[in-house]
Amino acid sequence: MLSGGAIAIWAVIGGLGILFGVFAVAIALQAATFDVMRWLLALAIEAPLAGGIIALIRYSRVLTRTTAAGEAASSALANSEAKYRELIASAPDGIFVLDPQAKVLDVNEAGETLLGRERGDIVGHSFMEFVPTDRLASAHGYLDDRLRGFRATELYEATFSTAKGKRVHVQLRSQVVRPADADSYVVYIVRDVTDQREAQRQLLESERWASMGRLASFVAHEINTPLTNISLLTASIARRVSDAEVQERLKKIAAQGRIAASITAELLKFARPGAINPVETNLTDLVREAVEQAEAFRKPGVEVRTELGSEPVVCTVDPLRIHEVLVNLLKNAFEATANGRIRVRLEDRGPSVAVSVSDTGTGIRPEVQQRLFEAFYTTKKKGEGTGLGLAISRNFVASHGGDITVTSEVGKGSTFTVFLPKQPVSVTTPA
Ligand SMILES: Nc1ncnc2c1ncn2[C@@H]1O[C@H](COP(=O)(O)OP(=O)(O)OP(=O)(O)O)[C@@H](O)[C@H]1O
Ligand SMILES: [Mg+2]
Repeated sequence: MLSGGAIAIWAVIGGLGILFGVFAVAIALQAATFDVMRWLLALAIEAPLAGGIIALIRYSRVLTRTTAAGEAASSALANSEAKYRELIASAPDGIFVLDPQAKVLDVNEAGETLLGRERGDIVGHSFMEFVPTDRLASAHGYLDDRLRGFRATELYEATFSTAKGKRVHVQLRSQVVRPADADSYVVYIVRDVTDQREAQRQLLESERWASMGRLASFVAHEINTPLTNISLLTASIARRVSDAEVQERLKKIAAQGRIAASITAELLKFARPGAINPVETNLTDLVREAVEQAEAFRKPGVEVRTELGSEPVVCTVDPLRIHEVLVNLLKNAFEATANGRIRVRLEDRGPSVAVSVSDTGTGIRPEVQQRLFEAFYTTKKKGEGTGLGLAISRNFVASHGGDITVTSEVGKGSTFTVFLPKQPVSVTTPA
């Protein structure tokens, strides 16, 4: 392709050629006869012009070549730029380009996904808008350090908030770029490690559960023997003495022994959740019985509503264990609700069922929610609860291949939902 410059030169060459051709012919033809001198004069005039034309032609070729080379170079640059853009756009890690004041200048698609925001809601905004308030100081400190040339290779663990308020755990690397002829900028390369963290947490938790289970089992067995002896000895003394005051005290000893025995029984349930005896059970009846049993914990200002449907819902579950799960959930709901309503709902979902217990009680703070199902975690005063209720319930439900979820809002109430497959997944049903 000819450039604009080359076309102009060729036009000038063509024009001059025609003009001087006409000149030469005119000079030569002015003589009626052949005149050597005139022809020589014509040639003398034409020769430098012809030289000029040849020079122009050469220059034009060089120009064409140079322009072509220039065009090739700039198209190669554009290509490589496009390639790098594509590379950054398709990078699996979020890439953010920030100015030294933390304003986002550019972001790739993975960055948008990570924050759950559109490009327009990121570019032009301060990067700090996406950092939760409790992590702001540390995020500012990191950027300042990087701009001052510290922490060159350090991997920084950070937390972002997505548009929906979810926290995303990330690992962040950064590079400060200081071009000679422009302002410095910082590139943040951010990897979402939320799932990885969750997997690690679950692994740690399951290891902790296993070791706590072993400990609980050991303690329960060790305590059971002296407890049994205490109750036997107390009964034997009670048979021998007639003193009313001693009898009264022996009764108190026996009552305390029973409390201790019930705690060890809880510990054993927690330690051995796996063994279940599934049988065909009408869950509608089971829920109704659990509600009746938990009534004992209801405060006068609390109303109970059950939505169990008109048809029986039949599942293959261990009725004793699921009954206990429901009583635990209902007991917690009653304990958290001084006034208001508890609603129990049973839903048949084809291959599975969902039983939810909702209360309009205190609600659960997020930091408590994170620990709800931990064994021995309780917010009750010492001696009022073991903190095993939800831990045991979750173990029981898990042994059926099910799950318990919770949603809660402080001051409004909580909903615990038990999901159970109609046929237990992890256990074969006895014939
Ligand atoms: N419906 C609820 N509303 C508010 N908080 C709840 C609710 N259910 C559970 N919790 C919180 O979860 C904690 C753990 O519950 P969990 O049933 O495991 O143990 P606990 O009730 O404290 O003790 P225990 O069950 O042995 O009596 C409770 O102490 C309470 O803070
Ligand atoms: Mg409880």
